[in-house]
Amino acid sequence: MSSRTAGPGKRNEEETMSAPLHFHIRTFGCQMNVHDSEQLGELLRRSGHAETSRERKADLIVVNTCSIRRKAEQKVFSLLGRFRSLKEANPALLIAVCGCMGQKFKGELIEQFPQVDLVAGTHNIDRIPALVERLRNGDGPLVETDFRESVPSIGVVAPPGPGRVSAWVTIMQGCNNFCAFCVVPHLRGREESRPPGDILREIETLAEGGVREVTLLGQNVNSYGATLGNGDTFPRLLREIDAVDGLERIRFTTSHPKDLSDELIDCFRSVKKLCGHIHLPVQSGSDRILERMNRRYTAAAYVDRVERLRRTCPGIAVTTDIIVGFPGETDEDFRATLALMKAVKFDGAFSFKYSVREGTAASRFDGHLDERVKGARLTELQALQEQHTLERNRLIEGRLEEVLVEGFSRNSGNDVTGRTRSNRIVNFPGNAAMIGRTLPVRIVEACAHSLRGERPGNEEVIHAG
Ligand code: 5AD
Ligand code: SF4
Repeated sequence: MSSRTAGPGKRNEEETMSAPLHFHIRTFGCQMNVHDSEQLGELLRRSGHAETSRERKADLIVVNTCSIRRKAEQKVFSLLGRFRSLKEANPALLIAVCGCMGQKFKGELIEQFPQVDLVAGTHNIDRIPALVERLRNGDGPLVETDFRESVPSIGVVAPPGPGRVSAWVTIMQGCNNFCAFCVVPHLRGREESRPPGDILREIETLAEGGVREVTLLGQNVNSYGATLGNGDTFPRLLREIDAVDGLERIRFTTSHPKDLSDELIDCFRSVKKLCGHIHLPVQSGSDRILERMNRRYTAAAYVDRVERLRRTCPGIAVTTDIIVGFPGETDEDFRATLALMKAVKFDGAFSFKYSVREGTAASRFDGHLDERVKGARLTELQALQEQHTLERNRLIEGRLEEVLVEGFSRNSGNDVTGRTRSNRIVNFPGNAAMIGRTLPVRIVEACAHSLRGERPGNEEVIHAG
């Protein structure tokens, strides 16, 4: 469907341009993907297209995909299957798949789902607007999945929308760690850090646009700077970002425990805007399994890092990722994971059943476990974590916490919602004027997944300083 406009009475091919499309982006997976989708949306808008939240109104649907576990892929397969009828109803509809599944399956996706017009890999998101133009000129289907040394879309700054308080900023791409279970290094390529000047300029632009909080994104932010080869480190970057005017909060994700240096831990005391929360995936509490996973730390070394974090920044929230049922995991190994959880008492945890990923080292290991065993272990682990989350949340009941208000609560139009510095969600009675402000809030009730708060009286606020 290539529609062209021409001047009255005279057709000038040089001046012709395709009519704007209505595009709709569906995103699966991690924050990294959510941010990639924001950047893709910005690039499509710059090409003159307009976003629609309604799939049925769209002339272009882009599915940004995730391959981290089989379940994530299955969701996309069923969505693509469903698109067949959309395409039958509207043959002009363009369907693109990008991200990890694009990188992994390449042209196979089009063979299996002929309704797909375009496949782009993890390094080619910036190419999508130009590829869409080619599709509109009848030049499809197209597959573009080459790895490039640097990913240009990383530098795209989507201007913050009205009322936007928090933003993601990519500081590095790829990963060199090759954890035995993980497909990321295979699909997102080698680690590459962005120059600090580019990152700072992006954050300054965001802060000028009203953003108060940035979350720095990378698969392993602790090794930031290693590929720049000029002495730049993550702690140095944090100190520079701390000086950006208008910015109030800095967060980052994700950290690899093996690279969590004393200097970085010290930033939780010395970098004033750095919030007291760290996501530090442990994956297992068994040294034998950690070694098989190629994680390169022991359970004791992990606990030592957490203790140091808590000594440096009392009240810091520590969250984690845990995999149950890794190949060869015995009941004793699993008990070691539960024991580590009891020793650490995480503030929150994402936990997963091990999922075989083709091409990874673990897929070739012996000792794959039965799904039922994995399921039972996951249930037991999640019940323990629920207790710990509630216990940790209750510790701040009655306290006055600094909350950055993000918007209205989904459940009640009279409540606003925001996050404490420790990244806990707090809902409390409020109004539109509070959005974007950091306010002291008294925590009155801890629930499993959020906190209930109240605005303190004037006197209390003054005492809270
Ligand atoms: N199976 C299960 N969970 C996995 N993760 C990564 N790969 C796998 C896999 N093959 C989990 C890890 C990681 C998080 C993002 O996803 O816990 O930290
Ligand atoms: Fe995957 Fe390990 Fe890299 Fe994290 S550090 S992205 S788990 S390979």
